[in-house]
Amino acid sequence: MAVGVFDSGLGGLTVLDAVRRRLPDVPFVYLGDNAHAPYGVRTADDIFALTCAAVERLWAEGCDLVILACNTASAAALKRMQETWLPPEKRVLGVFVPLIEALTERQWGDNSPPREVDVKHVALFATPATVASRAFQRELAFRAIGVDVEAQPCGGVVDAIEQGDEILAEALVRSHVQALLRRMPHPQAAVLGCTHYPLMEGVFAEALGPGVRVFSQANLVAESLADYLARRPEMLGAGTVSRFLTTGDARAVSDRATQFMRKKVVFEAA
Ligand code: DGL
Repeated sequence: MAVGVFDSGLGGLTVLDAVRRRLPDVPFVYLGDNAHAPYGVRTADDIFALTCAAVERLWAEGCDLVILACNTASAAALKRMQETWLPPEKRVLGVFVPLIEALTERQWGDNSPPREVDVKHVALFATPATVASRAFQRELAFRAIGVDVEAQPCGGVVDAIEQGDEILAEALVRSHVQALLRRMPHPQAAVLGCTHYPLMEGVFAEALGPGVRVFSQANLVAESLADYLARRPEMLGAGTVSRFLTTGDARAVSDRATQFMRKKVVFEAA
């Protein structure tokens, strides 16, 4: 019984950490496509092809259920995968919906018509591909009315994190937050719509200032996965071992993962 967790690189480790804490008895196989990160500047076709290849690799590890712990893949590829590619006995879940359900105060699977919610001004920070997909606004519109979303494509941040350059990542986060605040001076909530960004959550929170509620996905996804597995225990695949796989240089990726997660993480070549 193993579940796959996929990201273009290191960002999904923020989600993995939370799901492991929530489901300590479940083995998880993590796959980072570090050789091809960042995805956020790629075309939708490219993201689709890379994400399908990664998911197939996780099937080979005995994971029938794969979490796309990557907003860019969830926004640009998930719908097409589910509609055109996924065999019926496999499942791929994204990280978008749990976040939007939390933002709009909904329980899982509440498909009632969109309604007014407390939060009216939302700042969205995400990769250029996620922002261009408008998937966040689309999912939000199914559930809420009257919410003003200002989206900031945060070019360069994923690259800087993948290269282990925390100083550059911090400088970029500050300048992206300032750019957004010029367009929306008083957001009530900020969504970190890229799983790499919680690695910089303190910088986002400080740059946004007090009074802005920062939503990040890790714990929300963990709760939603626990709920899903309680309803669909048969989706725990045949795999039994937890592993960290990367398409990149395993030693370099291990060093950066250890740096950002502030604990030892050892990757193997995928
Ligand atoms: N962690 C991915 C996300 O959530 C980063 C995408 C990228 O590689 O640019 O969007």
